Parts: sequence; structure tokens; C-alpha cells
Amino acid sequence: MNVARKIEEVRSLVGPARRSGKLIGLVPTMGAMHCGHFSLIEAARADCDFVVVSIFVNPTQFAPNEDLAKYPRRFEQDLTGCRDRGVDVVFAPEPETMYPDEPLTEVRVKRLSETLCGRSRPTHFTGMATVVTKLFNIVQPDRAYFGAKDFQQAVIIRRMVHDLNFPLEIVVCPTVREENGLAMSSRNERLSADQRRQAAGLAGALRAGEEIIRRKHPPAGEAIAAIRANLAEHAPDGVIDYVQIVDPEDLADVENTSERVLIVLAVRFGGVRLIDNLLVEKGQAPELPQQPAPGR
Ligand code: PAJ
Repeated sequence: MNVARKIEEVRSLVGPARRSGKLIGLVPTMGAMHCGHFSLIEAARADCDFVVVSIFVNPTQFAPNEDLAKYPRRFEQDLTGCRDRGVDVVFAPEPETMYPDEPLTEVRVKRLSETLCGRSRPTHFTGMATVVTKLFNIVQPDRAYFGAKDFQQAVIIRRMVHDLNFPLEIVVCPTVREENGLAMSSRNERLSADQRRQAAGLAGALRAGEEIIRRKHPPAGEAIAAIRANLAEHAPDGVIDYVQIVDPEDLADVENTSERVLIVLAVRFGGVRLIDNLLVEKGQAPELPQQPAPGR
């Protein structure tokens, strides 16, 4: 495995692989890797001939009041995790390499960046889309892997790739969870034991929302009220930023829950803001016990 710090280095490693016809996969990360990140790397390894993982805590997607300084950094451990999974190149630039001077160009995906998390983090998605554009241009992958955990991010990246004709495919992988349902996130480690237990209530509230939607397709407001009540009971210290039911394609609020909908929420525990979501497929019947196979 090669570790590239400079743009020319990563290009000189990826270029020959591309020219020899290898399919290039990119997994962009901010490091402090957990099983969620590793699931993306494993998917890329299974699909592609040459896997690049970027590790870069991108300052431009953090607002001044956010947790950039507190963002966990575990570089050596991340490298071991990548090496163990057969990554070909880790691209780990310094901020000065990515931003040698004040950039005058930004990639802003309108509307999709302004809703949900964009309301409380108005500059976040522009910083994110801009750095992902730079990573796409530096690595020039055939495929790039993102997690459904950050659903809005994945929707924004897909739209950006569509609008700007990036010649690559976006692959979105399922959310990896702890045993208690808590979606894995590097921010979880900043929760106290009690907050962590309550944070598992986010996934529980999403499942309660899914259950009511599947059972009776209520107006969105009714399902949202049920989810909020569930959070109040199981995660009483969590301060709700939002709970919404949206169209998974354009993230617009929906009223009718008999279509395919996405339940999304953001909840703060002290200074730690957690997000989670659950896609409720259309016409999904309540789970029935498995019928025994004939003759068994
Ligand atoms: P980061 O938070 O490090 O996440 C890197 C990738 O891992 C993202 O695509 C994210 O959705 C995915 N991921 C995180 N937790 C996951 C989980 N529990 N299950 C599945 N996938 C998970 O997202 C970013 O970094 C940055 O915004 C980045 C895209 C790298 C741009 O700076």
C-alpha cells in the first residue's frame, strides 16, 4: 500500500493503473475509521481493480463554531485498517496541499444543500461538494463510494455528478450500526455512556416511525409526532434539530407516506450532533413469519 501526501504522487500512482485498464475505486473519508468506513472500502475492493482511500479532515465543511479541532484523528490506525483490507493507495494531503491559496471557486448544489442539515449548517455541503469535486479531479475514479448514513450528502453528490457530467458512478452503501442500532460515527466516541445509550434511541425512533408508516400510512405529521414522542421517551437528553419525512430523491417534505419515503432526523447530545435516517420502501408488507419450506 502506498501513502501519497501530494497530488502529483497520487496521480503518478493512479495514472498507470488507469491506463492499464484497471477500474479505479475511490472512498473519500475524514479518517478515524470505523466499520462504516470499512464497509465502503470492502465494497470498493470487491468491485474495483485499484482502490484509493482519501483521508482528509476538510476544514471548509466545518463552520467556525463546529468541531473541526475536536474531530478525532487516528492516522496510524486508519492506515492499518486500509492495509488489512487491501487498499492500493491512501491519499492523505495536508490542508495546504488541498488549499494552497484562498480558493475563489465553490461547488454549491442549490436547494438540496439548503434543506435538512443545511438549515443548521448553511456552509457545510458547499465545502463538502467542493472538496469531493477536487478529490474526483485528483484521483479520477471510475466509481466513488459513499454511505447511506449521510443520505443528504449522497443525494447532493449524485446530483452534482449528474449536473456537472463527472464521468464516474456513485455507489451508496448501507448504514453500518452498532448492535444496539446506533449508526456508527466517529462522533459517537464523544458521547458519555448514558448519552450513548440514549443515542441508540434514534434508531429505535426511526423503526417506530417505519412501523407506523407501514401499518397505516398516516399523514407525515402524524408519523413525525410519533417519532418525536418516541425520542422524548428513549432519548430525553437529546435536543431535536429536525425530524422530517421526505422524498428520497429530492429531499422535499412529503405529506403522503404511502410512497417510498425517507425518515431523517438530527439530534444533539451536548456538543455532539448525530444524524440518522431510514428508507421506507413503498408497499412493504409488515414482516410475516417465514413459512417453512415444503417437505421440511
Ligand atoms: P466521513 O464522515 O469520514 O465519512 C466517510 C464516508 O463514510 C461517507 O460516505 C459516510 O457516509 C460513510 N459512513 C460514515 N458512517 C457510516 C456508517 N455508519 N455506515 C456506512 N457508511 C458510513 O462524509 C465524510 O467523511 C466527508 O463529508 C467526505 C465525503 C469525506 C468529504 O470531506
